[in-house]
Amino acid sequence: MKDLLAKVERNQHLRGRLYLLELFAPSIARGSRAGQFVMLKVSKSLDPMGRRAFAIADVREDRILIFYEVVGKGTHALSNIREGEDIYLFGPLGKGVFPKEGDRHLLLGGGVGLAGLTLLGKELRKEGKRVIFVYGGKSEEHLGMEGWLKEEGFEYILYTEDGSRGRKGLITDVFKDFDTSWTVHACGPKAMFRALKGIKGYKMYFSLESRMACGWGVCLGCVVRTKEGYKRVCYEGPVFDSEEVIF
Ligand SMILES: Cc1cc2nc3c(=O)[nH]c(=O)nc-3n(C[C@H](O)[C@H](O)[C@H](O)COP(=O)(O)OP(=O)(O)OC[C@H]3O[C@@H](n4cnc5c(N)ncnc54)[C@H](O)[C@@H]3O)c2cc1C
Ligand code: FES
Repeated sequence: MKDLLAKVERNQHLRGRLYLLELFAPSIARGSRAGQFVMLKVSKSLDPMGRRAFAIADVREDRILIFYEVVGKGTHALSNIREGEDIYLFGPLGKGVFPKEGDRHLLLGGGVGLAGLTLLGKELRKEGKRVIFVYGGKSEEHLGMEGWLKEEGFEYILYTEDGSRGRKGLITDVFKDFDTSWTVHACGPKAMFRALKGIKGYKMYFSLESRMACGWGVCLGCVVRTKEGYKRVCYEGPVFDSEEVIF
């Protein structure tokens, strides 16, 4: 785990509210595993305060890639950081990473949640496993990471609620085409996890999000309920067995 200044090499608007951030951070890039995240200091001033959590979406040699959506003050400040500037970065964080058992893996990303699964896809493929991404959003505008999936040559299925791109419906509809031999990994909004909990028979892993202050287990601000009591998303997670978490 390192706290360092990283150079912003790309901060590019992709589509809708989605941006792609590329940071030169060799020591973090080298030590990252799928499921881990970083805490970024999104502003040089004290407004907004604190750091924000982002999944390590990809690692390219000495660089890490982050896909982020502008939703509030912090991410708005982040979108204004220029290429060539430095940014404080803390990570890689999270002890709970994705297990990789099984030969066939379905990776379900709801909106920007896909960013929590992209590195996993690359790691699984490297191990010779079959990987299919299922990527869903309200409309085409919310599927800004399709370019990454295409560029990386992954097999993928798209869902939009309004039918503007891919299949019309929710990503949870995909299970009618896949039997329970597939291992499922998911990242997205809480409503998606609740729906997935209702689908039985599959081995599933959830990468959870929760509001974080410290990012390394100290403040207890990010806890979730599990069968074994409260656990910290930033420390014991962010990846949990779906059977373990209680929503
Ligand atoms: C482990 C982890 C990984 C994440 N990875 C990514 C990522 O790869 N890309 C990305 O775009 N975002 C990711 N997030 C969410 C990201 O941290 C928040 O969107 C960001 O902190 C919002 O900051 P803000 O100041 O812009 O918004 P705020 O002004 O703080 O909040 C704006 C709105 O977003 C909601 N919100 C804020 N933080 C969260 C959160 N953690 N979970 C759910 N809702 C939140 C608030 O309730 C509010 O409605 C991740 C969060 C966690 C915990
Ligand atoms: S964010 Fe502080 S304990 Fe998790």
